[in-house]
Amino acid sequence: MVPFRYRKPGYVALNVSNLEASVAFYRDLVGLQLESRQGSDVAFFRCSQDHHNVVLYQSSAPGIKRMAFELESDADLEQAALYIDQMGWPRQEVDPEETRQLHQGRTFRFSIPDSTLTFEFYAHMQHGAGAYLPTVSKIERLGHVVIRCEQRDAVLKTLNEQLNFRVSDHFGDLVAFLRCFPNPLHHTFGVSRGEADGLHHINFMVTDVDDVGCAMNRMRKAGVEVVYGPGRHAISNSIFIYFLDPDGMTLEYSFGMEEFPEVGSRDARQLPIRPEILDSWGGAPAPKFGKGGVIEPATF
Ligand SMILES: [Fe+2]
Repeated sequence: MVPFRYRKPGYVALNVSNLEASVAFYRDLVGLQLESRQGSDVAFFRCSQDHHNVVLYQSSAPGIKRMAFELESDADLEQAALYIDQMGWPRQEVDPEETRQLHQGRTFRFSIPDSTLTFEFYAHMQHGAGAYLPTVSKIERLGHVVIRCEQRDAVLKTLNEQLNFRVSDHFGDLVAFLRCFPNPLHHTFGVSRGEADGLHHINFMVTDVDDVGCAMNRMRKAGVEVVYGPGRHAISNSIFIYFLDPDGMTLEYSFGMEEFPEVGSRDARQLPIRPEILDSWGGAPAPKFGKGGVIEPATF
């Protein structure tokens, strides 16, 4: 029995090669709200009342820096720390100075066997200054992050059996869609089979199907590469579009998603690897879909 409960995917930290270009892109084209800057190296964005849901760091190696999940309470966080230590996984408390900069309560990071990704857990984050006011797109939340894993089966087993992620669906043996229990959304995290560890994509859920259609035209006018969609995922029943950020990392907007009850949810389905499962409208992804971005290896 895993002794803690998730609230939601809290934020994703990304490394970008040109912070100025990426700040403009995420603010003006994606529609995230710029909360604050920390010098010339860090920018905090949000798409909710949280202080941040995306943090960009200037770096020479674009990709994902860490993935943070919010737990339900301080007690859950306490139990999670003890549990991770019992598992013998590398774990590090974030120092008070950085915790202050993050506007979070107690925060720790850890890594799991067979994956280079840094996970972060916290239970409290301050609100941003003022209301969250959507601009070019009515983003309602950071939806999910999918990573590519060289050791996918082992990573999936750990997430599922030891970290309280529940499998909602399997797309063949290529991708597993996971929800962070008891969060009801079909998937808040995913693991995809890859030749090397890397970022697959980052999703923002929007409140209106028009946000998907408008994004197609907005991105094309701005010269942003649309790499898949608009289409409909048969898996989660969402309407989607994927496009590339300035470093070639894949971002997604999606509208609609199946939700799971905490008790009595259906079993995970084993879906066949057929194109119409990923897009029932008949589209196909471009070669750059899900390919850009490395994982910054955990250093503890
Ligand atoms: Fe997605």
